[in-house]
Amino acid sequence: MTQDNDDYRGAGLEFPPAFVIGSATASYQIEGAVREDGRGPSIWDTFSHTPGATLNGDTGDVADDHYHRWESDLDLMADLGLHAYRFSIAWPRIQAEGRGAPNRAGLDFYSRLVDGLLARGISPTATLYHWDLPQALEDGGGWRNRDTALRFAEYAAIVGEALGDRVATWTTLNEPWCSAYLGYGSGVHAPGVRDGAAALTAVHHLNLAHGLALSALREVVSNTPAYSVTLNLQVVRGEGDTGPEAVRKIDGIANRVFLGPMLEGAYPQDVLDDTAAVTDWSFVRPGDLDLIRQPIDVLGVNYYFTNLVLLWDGSSSRQAADGHNPSAGSPWPGSEDVEFLPQPGPYTDMGWNIAPDGLEELLVSLSQRYPELPLMVTENGAAFPDRVVDGRVHDASRIDYLRRHLTAAHRAIARGVDLRGYYVWSLMDNFEWAYGYSKRFGIVRVDYETQERLVKDSGQWVHELATTRRIPE
Ligand code: FCB
Repeated sequence: MTQDNDDYRGAGLEFPPAFVIGSATASYQIEGAVREDGRGPSIWDTFSHTPGATLNGDTGDVADDHYHRWESDLDLMADLGLHAYRFSIAWPRIQAEGRGAPNRAGLDFYSRLVDGLLARGISPTATLYHWDLPQALEDGGGWRNRDTALRFAEYAAIVGEALGDRVATWTTLNEPWCSAYLGYGSGVHAPGVRDGAAALTAVHHLNLAHGLALSALREVVSNTPAYSVTLNLQVVRGEGDTGPEAVRKIDGIANRVFLGPMLEGAYPQDVLDDTAAVTDWSFVRPGDLDLIRQPIDVLGVNYYFTNLVLLWDGSSSRQAADGHNPSAGSPWPGSEDVEFLPQPGPYTDMGWNIAPDGLEELLVSLSQRYPELPLMVTENGAAFPDRVVDGRVHDASRIDYLRRHLTAAHRAIARGVDLRGYYVWSLMDNFEWAYGYSKRFGIVRVDYETQERLVKDSGQWVHELATTRRIPE
């Protein structure tokens, strides 16, 4: 559908002068050093050490050893000419048990990182939560427990106090969809719970955590940062007569269940109706929606693939389309009658369909719904089975993927979307959650034996993109 469409290969197109080109990572995926300097265990430590939970039993114990190599990793980013870096802060480094006095050593690590970025002219975008919940909080119910949202606000205040004179953009949560539905619904992510009602409870407490953290940050920071949240909004297309109804359901449970409370101050009625058999939503307390709906300056959008759906008539075998683990339970409570159809290729190494037009569609539809809200692509990228040949990685497929998606972003801007920038996922190969180290997303290769970094051809390509703000050949 798209790979043959030259409309989506726009070498030479130029982005506006302030358009940000950055790279993204997440703490548990790169840092390692899980028992150092007072860090407590997170749900991903527990989960990855549970037999059968991750491919090959891989864990983030060492990962990219970024905790020790952060300085040379920052040099690498500077060499790549990146304008901004989106990293996440490990909550259990700041509060080992998710509550109480801050751990100075943990704060110091991120303080040095932020200083190191600024010294290199790279703008720091800090995400407060990219899935590594302190295990002690999970032991008390995790995101099923309202108290976790309150603890998150406390943590946000601590971090805001320490870094709130230097961080340029604050992001509360990364992809709460994954935290709620993969963590508590299908169980393919930590903490590995399979319970639709728990997933919806988690949705609400994550929404609440977002709102409370924004208020907490605003009270303590001393500079004038941008505030944001990053969502993995799903592009859902329908097939046949039942397509529109199936699209409505998935769009509701995946997208509007976050956008509604965060940006419009209400849960969509149709989502409440669809899920009525799963939960009565009594965990939503009076006043919560006012706490959740806080102004943001930019909405972060992570985009990888599209979905094709219809209502299931019981005649065919069902497909899981969350892209993370087809054999697990459903991450879609209240949508048990929706079937996900296989998509036309080409595909990445994750099995995700390559569809840059989906990115354009998503950005345009968001800007139509929220015309005043600037957008940022906070993740986009692709895993491919890279090979090192004569000391180089000629990852032409990844370059092609990036070129097509940046072209889609450029087309969205041409159609009037206020898109401020694009962060490639990822700076370097890393621990890809349940897939362990088997999937490589980096524009820099990591040799996990030696921890050597090797800039791939795609890294050179991004360097040219960042320095010229034009889409390279
Ligand atoms: C997103 C996650 C990120 C990475 C990419 C491939 O869902 O935010 O950590 O795993 O997918």
